[in-house]
Amino acid sequence: MRLAVSRLRAGYGSATVIRDMSLSLADGEALAVLGRNGMGKSTFLKAILGYVARSGRVSFDDDDATDWPTARIVRRGIGYGPQEEAIFGELSVGENLAANVRQRPSPQRMSDVIGYFPVLGQRLRQRAGTLSGGEQKMLVLARVLLAEPKLIILDEISAGLQPAVFERVRQALAAERARRGTTILMVEQNLDLALALADRVAVMKLGQMLFEARANADGLRRELEVQLAP
Ligand SMILES: Nc1ncnc2c1ncn2[C@@H]1O[C@H](COP(=O)(O)OP(=O)(O)OP(=O)(O)O)[C@@H](O)[C@H]1O
Ligand SMILES: [Mg+2]
Repeated sequence: MRLAVSRLRAGYGSATVIRDMSLSLADGEALAVLGRNGMGKSTFLKAILGYVARSGRVSFDDDDATDWPTARIVRRGIGYGPQEEAIFGELSVGENLAANVRQRPSPQRMSDVIGYFPVLGQRLRQRAGTLSGGEQKMLVLARVLLAEPKLIILDEISAGLQPAVFERVRQALAAERARRGTTILMVEQNLDLALALADRVAVMKLGQMLFEARANADGLRRELEVQLAP
């Protein structure tokens, strides 16, 4: 799926957080958005998803979705993994997996996704609130993937992950791109994941795009470290 955002402005009440954001993603492309704390990265994703008031233009393929409510945007094939806690702690792992999938996933899809995260398959009956932090992140991503989104929007999916879980997440996203050509927009603080997965990286500062480059550009890591330094 193609994503185009132009001249996006968004915020909370009278406070404008996103001042002027434009970007476009080609079908199957992956973009990592970096930036220091509080620069508006999460607000930018929420504005695309229609969770916060916005102006400008957002389109998915050729559909102008600027005035769509979030539910319609999600139905169009967008999967979202928010930064904050997003599981139902009192429900089992299996119930969480079923929770936001409109149609029952095919057995094949279920087995592909459990294949990415075998630990979830072993814990389908366990209460999700008792999972470790890393397992909960895998559950959030598994639930997003089960719905077979055409565009995945992830907000710091790698935050706080141990290396083994980090590697599972990286492999799952890489496999989804290879298998299904999924477009990915990810906010990341982790340069390793951003540079490993993304075709392009962008840096946000105070609600605007400050810098953009191809992920394989020479000297990019050093450049980003300078841009992101406190
Ligand atoms: N619900 C809200 N109501 C009012 N202001 C908010 C709300 N959510 C975020 N903000 C403000 O918007 C600004 C940007 O926050 P946002 O969460 O988008 O930044 P971020 O780049 O995702 O930060 P982090 O890296 O810490 O996740 C901050 O000044 C924050 O205080
Ligand atoms: Mg954030």
